[in-house]
Amino acid sequence: MLEDFLKYQAKTTPHPLGLEIASASGSFIFDTQGKSYLDFVAGVSALPLGHSHPKVVRALKSQIEKYMHVMVYGEFAQAPAVALCKKLVELLPENHEVVYLTNSGTEAIEGAMKLAKRATQRSGLVAAHNSYHGSTHGALSLLGFEQQKKGYRPLLPGVSFIRFNDASDLNQIDETTAAVLLETIQGGAGFILPENDYLKKVKKRCEQVGALLLLDEIQPGFGRTGKMFGFEHYGIAPDIIVMGKALGGGLPIGAFSASKALMNQLEDDPKLGHITTFGGNPVIATAALTTINEIIDQRLMEQTLDKEKIFRKNLQHHLIKTIRGKGLMLAPIFENPEIPNFLVARCIEKGLLLFWLLWEKNAIRISPPLNISEEEIVMGCTIIKESLDEL
Ligand SMILES: Cc1ncc(COP(=O)(O)O)c(C=O)c1O
Repeated sequence: MLEDFLKYQAKTTPHPLGLEIASASGSFIFDTQGKSYLDFVAGVSALPLGHSHPKVVRALKSQIEKYMHVMVYGEFAQAPAVALCKKLVELLPENHEVVYLTNSGTEAIEGAMKLAKRATQRSGLVAAHNSYHGSTHGALSLLGFEQQKKGYRPLLPGVSFIRFNDASDLNQIDETTAAVLLETIQGGAGFILPENDYLKKVKKRCEQVGALLLLDEIQPGFGRTGKMFGFEHYGIAPDIIVMGKALGGGLPIGAFSASKALMNQLEDDPKLGHITTFGGNPVIATAALTTINEIIDQRLMEQTLDKEKIFRKNLQHHLIKTIRGKGLMLAPIFENPEIPNFLVARCIEKGLLLFWLLWEKNAIRISPPLNISEEEIVMGCTIIKESLDEL
């Protein structure tokens, strides 16, 4: 399979990890040789319930037998998508009355950017250095890492960049700004948390100049940091919230939410403001609704901060300088990139799956399923420490 994978499937790096997957269940992935890997990555935060959770599988089977796809987004009322949007509205801040479902996080970012431009009749967008919001031209225009963009110019005009956590840059947000788009917790930058009321200051500046605040909750969303959404830690509510990854419980999804007054902009004059064939797909919406319900029913959100403590306690090693992040999005930081490179490779050999972060090369990503057990956490941390001891 590996030979055909390398031959026929387009690659995104010259040397992919190339594990040959046979199956996956709970916190473990199994390769075609029968070797098991404890998964500390969870599909890059996309599997809050681990792999193939039985309740999600059961719900999916039942939906597939009823119908899989009947019509493009927004024309027919289909119970799974309706129930999902209703549930999300219950969980979101008060002024978020409507949800638009998309195929991916990136598509939700695109829809949210368009909505902000249309609602404000302005074209300026402000994003943060070292941000990541997706890989299409619009999302790429907001991406704050120049090296990644240089092959694709020209990108969107009117985009400017501010330093995350630096309030002295906020004067770049002005009356021409349609929206400021930030990750609540910067992911690719190394799990950087907002500090010193930064998000409140951004929100205040947006209000002063009539710009909208969009928060990308694609990584912290759905319990990963101990609250349903990451921004709940910081005492603000954004105007538009972009969701994805964990929401789908392992299937592809994205969503953006706003007030009805804002979202109405997409439906008329001209109508079809954002259209998508598979957004709101009933099978995927079923996975999403079942996943959210299980996160709530099993109180996984509440357990996240205790699990963070277990990680921090078990990841004490002289080569780990600090551990950034919150809840179950944690990034041990090392002296140089050689250590994470060694660690990812060595841990895979020893049966633990870790991964890198996009721009912070001195870090490894730890973003396991939210329902990972204490025993599994200790097991993985022991493998990390034993591997570091070899250096
Ligand atoms: C913060 C953030 N925004 C947007 C995206 C894009 O989401 P997707 O890959 O589902 O399109 C990602 C994906 O890694 C992300 O981490």
